[in-house]
Amino acid sequence: LKVGVLISGRGSNLQALIEACRDPATNARIVLVLSNKADAGGLKRAAEAGIPTAVVDHKAYGDRAGFDAELDRRLKGAGVGLVCLAGFMRILTDGFIAAWRDRMINIHPSLLPAYRGLDTHARALADGVKLAGCTVHYVRPELDTGPIIVQAAVPVAAGDTPDSLAARVLAAEHRAYPLALRLIATGRARVKGETVRLQGEIL
Ligand code: GRF
Repeated sequence: LKVGVLISGRGSNLQALIEACRDPATNARIVLVLSNKADAGGLKRAAEAGIPTAVVDHKAYGDRAGFDAELDRRLKGAGVGLVCLAGFMRILTDGFIAAWRDRMINIHPSLLPAYRGLDTHARALADGVKLAGCTVHYVRPELDTGPIIVQAAVPVAAGDTPDSLAARVLAAEHRAYPLALRLIATGRARVKGETVRLQGEIL
């Protein structure tokens, strides 16, 4: 499976996907990393792994549709079959999301459907929840919704700050995203309508 990864920042999840793809059992290859920011740390990680990268600066486009059309052109040009959003901080248009329906996944740092949007860890701590976590899901037009592929939970510790909780969740993200990719690339996760069916051993 040819994978395109969209990033905006440090790219630690991208790194986890790069490492997973070194294992033939993952059955996936990252063929393109796209960033909307030229200074995204993830670009260096991709280059070091020998993966083609490109910067598509959203500020160079008059509207979201123009930006998304360029993303679409690049992904298609690379023969991408699955798009992985990994800390990509732009809202995508409904048209782009429709074009990549069931072929685009995202990782979000909460146990969805709780805590969609930003500042998930601060909000979870304010609510006093005792479990936090992450979700890998297919992308649907409404932000941070869509069929769930994998979730991982971590405990909230006494004295946690948003940063300390984020670090614990991030470690779980680095396991969950490669797992979701492997399940999809090997045909063991199939999206049907609004749910994902898993087959066989998942861990
Ligand atoms: C992660 O917490 C991810 O869940 C969220 O943005 C962050 C990206 O981190 N969508 P990184 O760039 O992968 O290190």
